[in-house]
Amino acid sequence: MDRPRITIFDTTLRDGEQSPGCSMNVQEKLRLAQQLDRLGVDVIEAGFPIASDGDFEAVQRIAATVRRPIIAGLARACTGDVDRAWQALQGAAHPRIHVFLATSDIHLKYKLRISREKCLEQAREAVRHAKSLCADVEFSPEDATRTDVPFLCQVVEAVIAAGATTVNIPDTVGYTMPEEYGRLIRTLREEVADIDKVTISTHCHNDLGLSVANSLAGVQAGARQVECTINGIGERAGNASLEEIVMAMRVRPDRYPYETAVASEHLYSSSQMLAEITRVPVQPNKAITGRNAFAHEAGIHQDGMLKNPLTYEIMTPQSVGVPDSRLVLGKHSGRHALALRCEQLGHQFERRELDEIYRRFVVLADRIKKVQDSHLLELIQDVSSGNGSNNDASSQGKKFPPAAATLPFPRAVSAAAGANANDSHPAHVSGSAGQATVSIPFTDHHSEQEDYLWGV
Ligand code: KIV
Ligand code: ZN
Repeated sequence: MDRPRITIFDTTLRDGEQSPGCSMNVQEKLRLAQQLDRLGVDVIEAGFPIASDGDFEAVQRIAATVRRPIIAGLARACTGDVDRAWQALQGAAHPRIHVFLATSDIHLKYKLRISREKCLEQAREAVRHAKSLCADVEFSPEDATRTDVPFLCQVVEAVIAAGATTVNIPDTVGYTMPEEYGRLIRTLREEVADIDKVTISTHCHNDLGLSVANSLAGVQAGARQVECTINGIGERAGNASLEEIVMAMRVRPDRYPYETAVASEHLYSSSQMLAEITRVPVQPNKAITGRNAFAHEAGIHQDGMLKNPLTYEIMTPQSVGVPDSRLVLGKHSGRHALALRCEQLGHQFERRELDEIYRRFVVLADRIKKVQDSHLLELIQDVSSGNGSNNDASSQGKKFPPAAATLPFPRAVSAAAGANANDSHPAHVSGSAGQATVSIPFTDHHSEQEDYLWGV
């Protein structure tokens, strides 16, 4: 049976750009929009045309240049905004006007200073006007998750009657919990007339770190569009991260049996491009695209990875476009990983020699955190030339610039061990076999128990 298709609505260029330090000029937005096109997103929210001339121009340029996806422009629920959005979107192959209006009592009372009746009327009128210009109209009741539910149902029903084709349910302040959000989507599906004629969308902010969980709960409850951003950038704590949403569905189709059109092998390059343009680095432990997402430093982990990547990786790095797994040589590394790196550098050792190198390596790693190939070669040279431990490089205070020493992970190791990482991978994601086979000459040197300790 075909899996339901989830529309990926990328708002990196609009909501994402609203995050501090993430503003982009027209050229940069165009470059990123082209990358989003390559990535395969369905909708690009290119900007908020009334907000500035720069935003207007960016939407216009993207609309004229990026022809496959739907290009959306944001507008408040008033004629001037809707007209300006439409003006910017004129040249788009697939334009969408995205109208929003807050509906929670907090926003109505303190921000907009209007009654619920006025809000209902304004939403209906703005959508009607947008619909007179553009067939594809999305409506967002801002702060939907803190809106009185019967009133929210009333507003959603009114905008559908006025011509909205997508109804987005924003958790604007990242307040909701997954089960609550799922229940809200279900309630809308049960209570609102003609809801089955429109696409329900999620738009979850990350103030409590739940934006991805909430979005997935929304999908399980029947939403068929997810609004998200590359690297999860966005107002305050950000939006749901596109790469996390897409890979959660791809790695766990048993729980999330849905399809997206995203070409996941472009996730990493998209993330890197955004970081480069905004100069906002990706946090190292960021799921999917952080530099540590496929790095393994602990000895037990490295040992497991060398035997079979399935031990510690639930998706292949190649499946998200990360060049390869990295085994970081640091103080937690074990002999197994050290031996492999030595071999990759052209040196094979007997057990006793390796013990000596390992002993010095640990002292050095404790001092400089990450051991580079050049450091390792110095140690090897030292040991090979018979220099004693009180003469070793690590204790002589030589200069070791603290930079990452990483170990390209040999994919073929798993095949050599009799397992095919891609075939048996739970995510069953694409990816090549990776690097050439590297034999590990130590397996016959020790018992299973020793083998385990080696990894420590
Ligand atoms: O978070 C939000 O409510 C928004 C709307 C404009 C969709 O970004
Ligand atoms: Zn938002």
